Amino acid sequence: MQHSKIAGIGMYVPKNVYTNTDLTNFMDTSDEWIQERTGIKERRYADRTGETTTTMGVEAAKIAIERAGITPQDIDFIVFATLSPDYYFPGCGVLVQRALQMKEVGALDIRNQCSGFIYALSVADQFIKTGMYKNILVIGSEKHSFGMDFTTRGRNVSVIFGDGAGAVVLQPTSKEGHGILSTHLHSDGGDAELLAMFNPGTHSNHWLDKKLADYDEAAIGETFMSHQMIDNGQNFAYMDGPAVFKKAVVKFPEVIGEALAANNLKPSDIDMLVPHQANLRIAQFVQQTLKLSDDKVYNNIQKYGNTTAASIPIALCEAWEAGKVKEGDLVCLAAFGSGFTWASALVRW
Ligand code: COA
Repeated sequence: MQHSKIAGIGMYVPKNVYTNTDLTNFMDTSDEWIQERTGIKERRYADRTGETTTTMGVEAAKIAIERAGITPQDIDFIVFATLSPDYYFPGCGVLVQRALQMKEVGALDIRNQCSGFIYALSVADQFIKTGMYKNILVIGSEKHSFGMDFTTRGRNVSVIFGDGAGAVVLQPTSKEGHGILSTHLHSDGGDAELLAMFNPGTHSNHWLDKKLADYDEAAIGETFMSHQMIDNGQNFAYMDGPAVFKKAVVKFPEVIGEALAANNLKPSDIDMLVPHQANLRIAQFVQQTLKLSDDKVYNNIQKYGNTTAASIPIALCEAWEAGKVKEGDLVCLAAFGSGFTWASALVRW
């Protein structure tokens, strides 16, 4: 049966580097605290003007398209994953279609936060398997620096996230045992409010029952976004970090195990694990659980922070460019994040 392979990969990160020490100019934090809890040393922030989630995605896409040996006009479908779109609507997919002067192809936007790239990859994989499309552009891109509270109030979130983009081109292959072997997608909305940005949104007050006491009950409903909601910080991401951590260290190994079992493989068969770059401590825990040596796990959160939907394609691209992902290697991608949603993919490179 026809299935899909990654025919080209690219990444883009903004040039502006912000170290942990730079962040101490805005909030009460320290290099020591951030490195000890997350492993992050620095991250990139996009230019305030000119550089957007779409423009970064386009830069990554240009490289992926070129490496696939095609042109933008050959792309027949776009899947764009982000939680920080240029506009509330329309999504970034159509902006990519315009920027790259593509044909009037379909453009789908995916909102699955940290699992967004694997969800996007999975959707694209299904379209290739059915024979509907032949060159699908999959992008994960984030401009977090526009949506974070850079005061001490928001420090538990803002120190973690950074900006950047990654992209791949999927094409069909009939080579047996090669390309995307399987993808596995999950969700549990029971704790949806533990990692969320509430506005702009149409929610009522149900989430306030979860003792998010920082928020003013008067600033609920009636409009997507009010001055009061902004005063309450409801336009910034809320995260219960310890709860996310506890769930992540269970779901990462679980969904990787599911992918291996589905393909009759075992952890020692993995040549390279590229986990979503949520926290170096989470990645190290997963590595220990699977008993993988250091050279079989790729981490770059130290340089970029958590770039959400972009983190896996950026890490995969870097690993590939460094020669750490070679033809025939078994690559495992895994993610966990807001929703909660989690996912994995096994790829024979
Ligand atoms: N700098 C300094 N102190 C900070 C801080 C910062 N940037 N952020 C929070 N703190 C403080 C807290 O206020 C708290 O102080 P207190 O003890 O006086 O109340 C203390 O540090 C501990 O906070 P806590 O949230 O319990 O820390 P933690 O050890 O759980 O680490 C995270 C916080 C966010 C690093 C950690 O929970 C985590 O990584 N969780 C997973 C997050 C994640 O992966 N998110 C993305 C999902 S894909």
